Amino acid sequence: MRILDFGSLNIDYVYQVDHMVRPGETLAAGRRDVFPGGKGLNQAVACARAGAEVWQAGMVGPEGDLLLDVCKKAGVNTDLVARTDVATGHTVIQVDRGGQNCILLYGGANRQIDEAYADDVLAHFSPGDYVILQNEISCLPHIVDEAARRGLKVILNPSPYNDALDAVDMSKVSLFLLNEVEGAQVSGGSTDPDEILARLGEKYPDSAVVLTLGSAGSRYQKGAERHEQGIYHVKAVDTTAAGDTFTGYFVWAMSVGKPVPEALDLAARASAIAVTRAGAVPSIPTMDEVLAAKL
Ligand code: RIB
Repeated sequence: MRILDFGSLNIDYVYQVDHMVRPGETLAAGRRDVFPGGKGLNQAVACARAGAEVWQAGMVGPEGDLLLDVCKKAGVNTDLVARTDVATGHTVIQVDRGGQNCILLYGGANRQIDEAYADDVLAHFSPGDYVILQNEISCLPHIVDEAARRGLKVILNPSPYNDALDAVDMSKVSLFLLNEVEGAQVSGGSTDPDEILARLGEKYPDSAVVLTLGSAGSRYQKGAERHEQGIYHVKAVDTTAAGDTFTGYFVWAMSVGKPVPEALDLAARASAIAVTRAGAVPSIPTMDEVLAAKL
């Protein structure tokens, strides 16, 4: 069983700000850092740092070497990543004094993915392998269809949530990992976690769901099976990639057959550590760090 992360690779330009810039306002940033990121790359690195053998697929532009180097250093196989002349995806991220962020995303090379490339990538994988997807690349509906047709387990983090997801056949998703905002959007409006889970359970009865709820922790549901996990309290420096860290650790734990409560706990520990550190990829802990942390 192998794990393929088919997703975005971004260069994150991260600005420390007193508050999020308001409409019409010009705001001086305290500092700027440039970090590797992208939900796809972050989740692949989190899987690898948890201990998985993981492949990254996606596209980068001429300035994408930095991202490939980061993957390789983390132990993520990049043989399937393709090149294009279009600029590498990037973001402008504001991080305020409380560690909260807001993200402006330019898709760039991530939006050049087409059916031919997707088919070529997926042909390397076999029934039972996992594919982790997010919503920062083009061709997502086709990738879901083709991955399911080939017997891969489709794991979807429907983030960022937008209309492009309407074309995805969500009934082919084995595991959803989503936060309460995305949960409300996927399930049709309610912000109540019980209602979100009930609605998702009705719509996708064969799928497992992990719903993350910020300070209220996370919940798992598959059929009648239910689990809850609290958070570890830490001082937040930067929440960027905390959700990606949770996803990578949870998927790794599932892939090696850990019981769900243990998988949720490991994911909560790893994401708690991630919020104490700046940046996306640099914030993702290794399994040794997760196991050693006094949380
Ligand atoms: O989830 C965090 C990520 O979202 C950042 O690394 C940024 O690139 C955006 O994709």
